[in-house]
Amino acid sequence: MTEQQFPGRLTSRSIRSFVIRNGRLTKAQAAAMQNLLPEFGVQYKDDQLLDFTTLFDLTGAAPITTAEQTPDDAPVWLEIGFGNGDALVDMAKRYPENRFIGIEVHEPGVGQALMGIESESLSNVRIVQHDAIEVLQNMIPDASLNRVLLFFPDPWRKKRHFKRRIVQTEFIELVADKLESGGVLHCATDWHDYALWMVEKLNSCKRLVNQSNSGDYSERPAWRTNTRFEQRGERLGHDVFDLLYRKP
Ligand SMILES: C[S@@+](CC[C@H](N)C(=O)[O-])C[C@H]1O[C@@H](n2cnc3c(N)ncnc32)[C@H](O)[C@@H]1O
Repeated sequence: MTEQQFPGRLTSRSIRSFVIRNGRLTKAQAAAMQNLLPEFGVQYKDDQLLDFTTLFDLTGAAPITTAEQTPDDAPVWLEIGFGNGDALVDMAKRYPENRFIGIEVHEPGVGQALMGIESESLSNVRIVQHDAIEVLQNMIPDASLNRVLLFFPDPWRKKRHFKRRIVQTEFIELVADKLESGGVLHCATDWHDYALWMVEKLNSCKRLVNQSNSGDYSERPAWRTNTRFEQRGERLGHDVFDLLYRKP
């Protein structure tokens, strides 16, 4: 499928929200990529929607984990740009009754998250190492996600880079397609101007309802993990903004 064939279709070229950094993997991360990715990783395919029942089915596999399998109708939470997997691993541990899909392009982060999955003996997490926009478009069925989590996305602070911010109208529409009724998009950022940008774009989407009483930010949910990039923001003295939008 090319952009020419589908004019107007959202592509990773329309929002290029990441740069691939050549971070070196530690030995442990490299070992995790080799040993754990076959079990927890999902190969990106642009022509095949995921079947969550099959995706989280461990029957027949030789799981290294001991945790019980989650039921087929368990809510699916999807985290975009999980970094080192701090929040992903913590949420999966905290909510064993849910199923989690984490998407990240940065390989050392993927390796680190896999290490966390193993050390916590989690069986309810799957990882896709690919552009989240393409994953959402081509692999995630419509109305299938209970939560989409976007914690501390790259702020792309220079004006000429604003087009690289992942929170754009087309992205919000795509997320709205993928959320089930009652599902929630949860964003957090420590950059005030990006928070204002998010509120403006998200409040304009008629398909999602801001959960904030004041029409902008919501209280930070107590369970939300303090991630590496949140800690960086705190060191810089930044306030943190949580934004929660529900699909009716
Ligand atoms: C600023 S970091 C935040 C990481 C983590 N959420 C945290 O709070 O520590 C943003 C992450 O999003 C990832 N990212 C950005 N755009 C992405 C995309 N389109 N698909 C997948 N990952 C993406 C980057 O590789 C990076 O690791």
